[in-house]
Amino acid sequence: MTNLITNMTVTQQLVENKYHIYHSRINDALGRCFDAELPATLYAPARYILQGNGKRIRPFLTLLASEAVCGSSDNALDVALAVEVLHNFTLIHDDIMDQAELRHSRPTVHKQWNINAAILTGDMMIAYAYELALQAKTNRHAELIHILNHANITICEGQALDMELEEKKDATIADYLDMISKKTGRLISAALEAGGVAGNATEEQLQSLVLFGEKIGRAFQIQDDYLDIMAVNGKSGKIAGGDIINGKKTYLLLRSLELTSGSDRDLLYSIIINKGISADRVPEVKAVYERCGVLEETAALINSDTEEALTAADHLPHAEGREYLQGFANILMKRDF
Ligand code: IPE
Ligand code: IPE
Ligand code: MG
Ligand code: MG
Ligand code: MG
Repeated sequence: MTNLITNMTVTQQLVENKYHIYHSRINDALGRCFDAELPATLYAPARYILQGNGKRIRPFLTLLASEAVCGSSDNALDVALAVEVLHNFTLIHDDIMDQAELRHSRPTVHKQWNINAAILTGDMMIAYAYELALQAKTNRHAELIHILNHANITICEGQALDMELEEKKDATIADYLDMISKKTGRLISAALEAGGVAGNATEEQLQSLVLFGEKIGRAFQIQDDYLDIMAVNGKSGKIAGGDIINGKKTYLLLRSLELTSGSDRDLLYSIIINKGISADRVPEVKAVYERCGVLEETAALINSDTEEALTAADHLPHAEGREYLQGFANILMKRDF
């Protein structure tokens, strides 16, 4: 897609191979977490969410960030696990807030148990994540904890803005982009920043990793919104069209409101006014998205964010690690999973 990519020696196939190997390595290590039996309503939900079909994108980025600064991810595994555990806490609480019934095609934690068990398991997972970060072989623990704390606070801000946006009738695309940079972008940039710290990065290198993360993080959430309604054969593992059913103001919805008129626009505006739409009308909304040009614009936005991410990573010192990071950004941009 870009000169940066075509000149690379690390091919897409090599990136995919590494992703599969590291995915197993991360899952094996996650499988050793939360091994206490009792109370069962606290630890079983933590094991349950981690046994789901999570993509492990953030811990993979943590490991790659470390390799891009020092050539090794040996000291970054605990940090990667910390980030993934923190991420899964946010998913458990997000599913309560979104009243989501499915995640990776399985009942969400609050459906499988109940809301109180889901809240408590999430709370415990935050503390567990910090313990994992403190186990990392580094003398920069305070920085790691600060990064995780900052990410955690920022996600809460993003989730609060997400809820406020649901109530706002005149929400703008700028409001949406600010909200997603907080609810999604920051944890992705923190995953990279923390991996950089584990690899003993300089301040300048950390800034490059954070910028790279902010760019791919934004593209990632826009793609998440896209897949929520456009994923084929239930590949998202969520209820298809869940965002519009719940009246979520996504990039697709906000931008198509600007691109449509007449009855198409009336249909979209009714989602805002009524704070959602019935599940049987999802195909009508999908058809509007397909004819108003928003899908092409979404793809273009994801593409330009990814280009900027590739550039941001360009000065990281370790060539091979850097190319894996850039190659993975390219894979994420085209994801359908
Ligand atoms: C879901 O993240 C929450 C978002 C920020 C969109 P992922 O899509 O990375 O979820 P898992 O880790 O694969 O379950
Ligand atoms: C998720 O946003 C953000 C966080 C989990 C903090 P979404 O609500 O879009 O995520 P999914 O689609 O449920 O995974
Ligand atoms: Mg959700
Ligand atoms: Mg949500
Ligand atoms: Mg979503």
